[in-house]
Amino acid sequence: MDIEELDKRYLWHPYTQMSEMLSSKIRVIVRGEGFYLIDKDGNKYIDAVSSMWCNVWGHNNIELINAIKEQLYTLPHSSLFGLSNDKAILLAEMLCKLTKLDKVFYAENGSSAVEVAIKMAIQYWRNINEPKYNIISLKHGYHGDTIGSISVGYIEDFFSNYKDLLFNVKRLDSPYLFRKSIDMSDDDYINYCIDIVEQALKENPACMIMESGAQLAGGVIIYPQNYQAKISELCKKYDTLLILDEIATGFGRLGNMIEFIAQNSMPDIAIFGKMLTGGYLPLSAVLTSNKIYNAFLDDYYKNKQLFHGHTFTGHPLGCVAALTNIQLYEKYKLIEEVRRKSSIIKNRLEEFKSNIIGDIRHKGMVAGIELVKPNSKEPLRFRQSMTYTIMDEGFKRGVYIRPLGNVMLIIPALAIDDHTLNKVLDIAYDIIKSLERINA
Ligand SMILES: Cc1ncc(COP(=O)(O)O)c(C=O)c1O
Repeated sequence: MDIEELDKRYLWHPYTQMSEMLSSKIRVIVRGEGFYLIDKDGNKYIDAVSSMWCNVWGHNNIELINAIKEQLYTLPHSSLFGLSNDKAILLAEMLCKLTKLDKVFYAENGSSAVEVAIKMAIQYWRNINEPKYNIISLKHGYHGDTIGSISVGYIEDFFSNYKDLLFNVKRLDSPYLFRKSIDMSDDDYINYCIDIVEQALKENPACMIMESGAQLAGGVIIYPQNYQAKISELCKKYDTLLILDEIATGFGRLGNMIEFIAQNSMPDIAIFGKMLTGGYLPLSAVLTSNKIYNAFLDDYYKNKQLFHGHTFTGHPLGCVAALTNIQLYEKYKLIEEVRRKSSIIKNRLEEFKSNIIGDIRHKGMVAGIELVKPNSKEPLRFRQSMTYTIMDEGFKRGVYIRPLGNVMLIIPALAIDDHTLNKVLDIAYDIIKSLERINA
């Protein structure tokens, strides 16, 4: 049996209607070469998704590979339960210096880091004998797929099947200017979005969680200037802990190393993942201040310790990848490069014209193109899912591109070269033009 048949027999793919995948050609990737993925038949695809938004340097960065290899020969894994390891320590120091936060707790993926952050925030209030449990988050926010993270990042189209399992969270309008919930000017709507947060904060919730800089999975909703700063200020004013999720937006995706610093905001808890290791190994980090950390210090039998820890917490391979990755940002002046390439994307997107483009949103190395039925705001749809349709059009043109519903996403590796980036943009536009023809 060939390998595609084995896939169809044994694998269940994430966020996939398997009936669509079972009736289509399976592309079995066997090699990465720079910004390309290569399948077993030798077909090359530009990775315009940066392997679920985490690949920074392309697929065979020798400096990252060597650092991981050396660590593998020295210490593949040892736990943080009652022990430490040098790479986890050095990375923690580096992350604290970058963020101006004080302590680091590790997990392996974004969703579990979000669970840690929520537990930390809720337990903080219990530990200081002021228990409170209410949580605020934003509509269109996404924070992962575990039960806690979908409670705070509930997206109806994704998670309605699990609704009965979720805990209560007050979810407020975010500044999604293309689809305002109330008909008013952009400026008024932004003020309204800030105002409803202030009203909710007056009810004294334990914490507010939101993505930092932009809501990516919700459709690339980029925050207007000062919006996040204002929320940060309000959380301080009303003594509510602010959790900022930088899993998708930190480490340069929006053109800043640490997005919350660029946004003039200061979280009590910040979360990083995805590009932290350059996208080579799974690792996430929850950072917090000494104010929070100190509330967990007491006699053992007071039960104030954080009851959380994964087998692979602080995995030395992930930590060495992250340490090396951060050094490479410096060495190759990656953030400056991202800003330069961001203006290429901006200029190219201005040329995109189609009656199925409803809105284009872009910042740094991410663009979201919202596709609609011609000259309307109704989301574009085909018989097969938009994911399937756009991916298929992409594969035909040698690019791996994956939308979120009717929002076409361009999220390449940060270090992508200009030529390949321009090729991605050419192909994205070509796909839009062909969808326009299919729809006509
Ligand atoms: C903002 C945000 N938070 C959390 C997550 C979940 O991360 P993971 O897929 O590593 O669990 C994601 C994933 O896309 C994300 O975009």
